[in-house]
Amino acid sequence: MLTGKHVVLGVTGGIAAYKACEVVSRLRKLHAGVDVIMTENATKLVAPLTFETLSNRPVAVDTFSRIESWDVKHISLAQKADVFVVAPATANLMAKLAHGIADDMLSTTLLATKAPILLAPAMNTGMWTAPATQANLETLLSRGVHTVGPASGMLACGDNGAGRMSEPEEIVEAIVKLLTAKQDLAGKKVLVTAGPTVERIDPVRYLTNDSSGKMGYAIAQAALDRGAEVTIVSGPVHIAAPVGAKVLPVQSTMDLYHTMLENAPLQDVVIQAAAPADYRVENPADQKIKKQDGESLVLTLVENPDVAKAVGQQKRPGQVLVGFAAETQQVTENAKKKLAKKNLDMIVANDVTAEGAGFGVDTNIVTLITHDELKPLPKMTKRQVGDRILDEALRLLQQKAE
Ligand code: CTP
Repeated sequence: MLTGKHVVLGVTGGIAAYKACEVVSRLRKLHAGVDVIMTENATKLVAPLTFETLSNRPVAVDTFSRIESWDVKHISLAQKADVFVVAPATANLMAKLAHGIADDMLSTTLLATKAPILLAPAMNTGMWTAPATQANLETLLSRGVHTVGPASGMLACGDNGAGRMSEPEEIVEAIVKLLTAKQDLAGKKVLVTAGPTVERIDPVRYLTNDSSGKMGYAIAQAALDRGAEVTIVSGPVHIAAPVGAKVLPVQSTMDLYHTMLENAPLQDVVIQAAAPADYRVENPADQKIKKQDGESLVLTLVENPDVAKAVGQQKRPGQVLVGFAAETQQVTENAKKKLAKKNLDMIVANDVTAEGAGFGVDTNIVTLITHDELKPLPKMTKRQVGDRILDEALRLLQQKAE
């Protein structure tokens, strides 16, 4: 599975260092080449000979010992890596990497590498939650460093909380994902809309739609992982945006409309997973509306523009537009009508009443409808749905380029 791939594994002096042995052994079983670099402290927990035996390669410890076949060791290992993993990654290692400190073999090689970096943090809960560690983590994530874990549970120090290194199996899974990720959207610009919009009634009240933003964010994450340049136009949601995406926040459907008319023409693929409110309050009140002693409150709602339709009207040749159809009945028929009306290339039909589909959950059941095909998909995670939508969008993009 990983034949021809090379993993450089840094092992720091965390008590979880012994678990790194299993990471090496599992990687070897998948036929990856593995070079291990240990910090001085790690060698006090696990003997380098253990890693040498498991990896069948010499283990590097400090910058000054000489191993003949390596040119300038830290540079050659940095270049050789297809992925650079540090497991366990201590707070100290993370701090050094975040600040560019290179004072031993591991930190020097890590600083020099251009390979994707994966950290498996392991430390005491207090250290993990310390503002300094969290700020370092944020810096590293913003530079595209990947992490796996830490998990929560009983720690070696007796504390219970976040900080335990992920299990070797999970770490290897994350490595495999990084090594096998297809970059088929490299150089492509993908815009995803996500979440609901909100329409003000007065300063303390609003109308909105059911939408967690999970579907749109999952598509954005999938597009990022496949190398696309990703923009998310997002209504208010309670989930974190994927690292590396440009986020344009919007509130009302009118905001969404203006943001989309400006940004959609710059994209290769536009996927509209947002649930914009179809109506807005005609005259939102400037001050909080007071109760009128038993009298009904009448709000006049006026129709919002159909954003997808407006984006469809200005579609550039070669551009691929994808919409969603949230339906509760006659799903396919209604979706097909929207495909035509909004000048879309594909519509993702979604029966929001089906179990395991729709709002708030992590799975979805959809049918991908293009002008020439109808593909019902089984229940899958929103991330998997995202990948299937992108596969299809890429196919349409290539078809248009022919
Ligand atoms: N959409 C939009 N602007 C709106 C409403 C919807 O751009 N004012 C987009 C959604 O992002 C989605 C698609 O249009 O990609 C279909 O949304 P949906 O709510 O299913 O359909 P509507 O067009 O609002 O039709 P209806 O409410 O009559 O089902």
